[in-house]
Amino acid sequence: MIRKIGILTSGGDSPGMNAAVVSVARCAAMNGIQLMGIKRGYNGLLGLSKNPEDDICALDLETVLDIADQRGTFLRTARCVEFKQPEVRRQAAENLRQLGIDALVVIGGDGSFTGAMYLCELGIPCVGIPGTIDNDLGYTEATLGYDTAVNVCVEAVRSIRATIGFDTALNTACECINRVRETSDSHERASLITVMGRNCGDIAMKTAMATGAEMLIVPEVEWDVDEVAARLNCLIEQGNTRATLVISEHCWDNMKPFDWRKFLNDNGKTVYPGEPISAEYLASILKRKCGGAEVRSTVIGYTQRGAQPTAQDSAFAFEAGHQAVQLLNRGIANQAIGIRHGRVFNMPIIDALSMKKTFDREMYNLINKL
Ligand code: ADP
Ligand code: F6P
Repeated sequence: MIRKIGILTSGGDSPGMNAAVVSVARCAAMNGIQLMGIKRGYNGLLGLSKNPEDDICALDLETVLDIADQRGTFLRTARCVEFKQPEVRRQAAENLRQLGIDALVVIGGDGSFTGAMYLCELGIPCVGIPGTIDNDLGYTEATLGYDTAVNVCVEAVRSIRATIGFDTALNTACECINRVRETSDSHERASLITVMGRNCGDIAMKTAMATGAEMLIVPEVEWDVDEVAARLNCLIEQGNTRATLVISEHCWDNMKPFDWRKFLNDNGKTVYPGEPISAEYLASILKRKCGGAEVRSTVIGYTQRGAQPTAQDSAFAFEAGHQAVQLLNRGIANQAIGIRHGRVFNMPIIDALSMKKTFDREMYNLINKL
């Protein structure tokens, strides 16, 4: 019988994590289960803080009253590298037992789910709620925060494209965007926009689809600097003064060999040994390969994670939280919660983690088609 549940958020924060915590708190209260909030991911299980309240605290309905629509994660999050060590996990399981915590809800991505799976093996029933903006879990159609992240990127890309004069649909035509539009129109610039997503190109792909970007680079597909330059050249020749290239942050791992350092040094730009290639450098290479065309780089960065959760993320979080408590209460553990065809479902974490993410090559080709 489950009397006390722990809940933690782990890995990068994602919009909707708080809504999931509130849902778990409500469902726990409904079932007469006590809820403990564990701070800073798996770190909170290790009792590292001077004040125990900084690691674990009681989460009653009053505590979480106002957090459902808040950005970030109330419980804080962290990456606990030590958790990959079996002896550290054994200690964490022992600490949970000492605290009388019968089961754990883990909100995070594939790394956090792996930690949860190991805790299950140590006798702690766990359920995972997919909270990551990356959408890199193959078993579910969505992860908490992904929808919000895509929306943020779409807004950001739209403002940049609108500055060149094409996006009249943007109704939040604030003074700031109008100013950028004027200056970008004048300068006829191409834009290279970096979005997050770790090794998964989903955010980049959906952002490109939703904004009509003409080029896309993702970690899933090998790409070639010369081909990208040729495509950009072609777009410019066609009279495209707003060419937009969306790139996914880890696309560099799949770049065909290109001696970018030599190229830039030979073309009048100082680059230093040891410096990693960046979007800024790619913009500079494209500029030189495209007859001096202006190419500007914008990295959207953490604005994707700190955004207000969209209705879709919040609603999914709410259902997932409910499902997590129901499962644990029925003695069903080691489960990952997901969404498929619009319905919340669960499956063993081990199977969820083994499901490969599919990549839509057809859409990728369509976006990159000249
Ligand atoms: P995400 O959960 O979003 O994939 P990470 O990959 O950074 O984010 O993982 C978050 C945390 O999950 C790590 O800091 C660590 O505490 C735990 N974790 C990740 N991989 C493992 C693993 N192989 N074994 C145990 N714990 C892990
Ligand atoms: O997993 C979420 C994520 O935002 C990834 O998209 C990104 O690669 C990573 O976290 C960034 O991590 P950090 O917060 O350590 O910079």
